[in-house]
Amino acid sequence: MASKRKVIIVENLSRVFKVGDSEIHALNNLSFDVDEGELVIILGQSGAGKTTLLNIIGGMDQATSGKLIVDDIDITKYSKKQLTDYRRNYVGFVFQFYNLMSNLTALENVELSVEMCKDAYSPKDILEKVGLKERMNNFPGQLSGGEQQRVSIARAVAKNPRILLCDEPTGALDYNTGKQILSLLSNMCKEEHKTVIIVTHNSAIKDMADKVVYIRNGSVEKVQINENPKKIEEIEW
Ligand SMILES: Nc1ncnc2c1ncn2[C@@H]1O[C@H](COP(=O)(O)OP(=O)(O)OP(=O)(O)O)[C@@H](O)[C@H]1O
Ligand SMILES: [Mg+2]
Repeated sequence: MASKRKVIIVENLSRVFKVGDSEIHALNNLSFDVDEGELVIILGQSGAGKTTLLNIIGGMDQATSGKLIVDDIDITKYSKKQLTDYRRNYVGFVFQFYNLMSNLTALENVELSVEMCKDAYSPKDILEKVGLKERMNNFPGQLSGGEQQRVSIARAVAKNPRILLCDEPTGALDYNTGKQILSLLSNMCKEEHKTVIIVTHNSAIKDMADKVVYIRNGSVEKVQINENPKKIEEIEW
């Protein structure tokens, strides 16, 4: 069997934060890789380094040492300008607390994010895909938490990025709404062929992933491959 193409290779990545005279080693020689089209869950306790890692993969922060190879290019060598292009065209980011612009409608929020992207999808089509056809002209304050998170997923996906990065995407949602959002992210992976990384501390959802990366104290504790990932409907917690 031909081996799958690796989209992301994280190699001995470290991130040290200097706070006053002390150093915080948020990531310590961390390594793992992600195949094209894979759904990866990064699991770890609070403070394990999950957000730090996702921010570096998303081009929002830079590593202290190590390599981060995306599509065969080591992006730790990127200049500010190259990182801006990378953030714009390569990655879509879904935040725990949505981060929508409150004075723009759902549609305008998505339109804003695709404004400078090269191969973006139609914002209306993507909002329809996430089930918000009837709510496009509402402001975030007029939408439920789950609907706002769907707008934020639409905003990330509409850019047509190679990689979708999600930091605790269900952290602010109730159980059933959280399940809907995870099911949507899984569809984005399987139907739109996106590579999806979901960061969470909810170990119950690990069974939906193709690969689970366990992080502890800024290092990879183990990597588990699920040969038969479960559908989110089959998972209870
Ligand atoms: N900008 C920063 N300056 C200093 N320390 C930081 C900074 N960002 C993160 N840290 C520290 O790095 C460690 C990892 O933080 P991180 O936010 O990545 O954890 P996390 O796994 O996302 O946790 P949570 O599940 O609570 O979101 C923590 O000890 C945190 O206090
Ligand atoms: Mg975090």
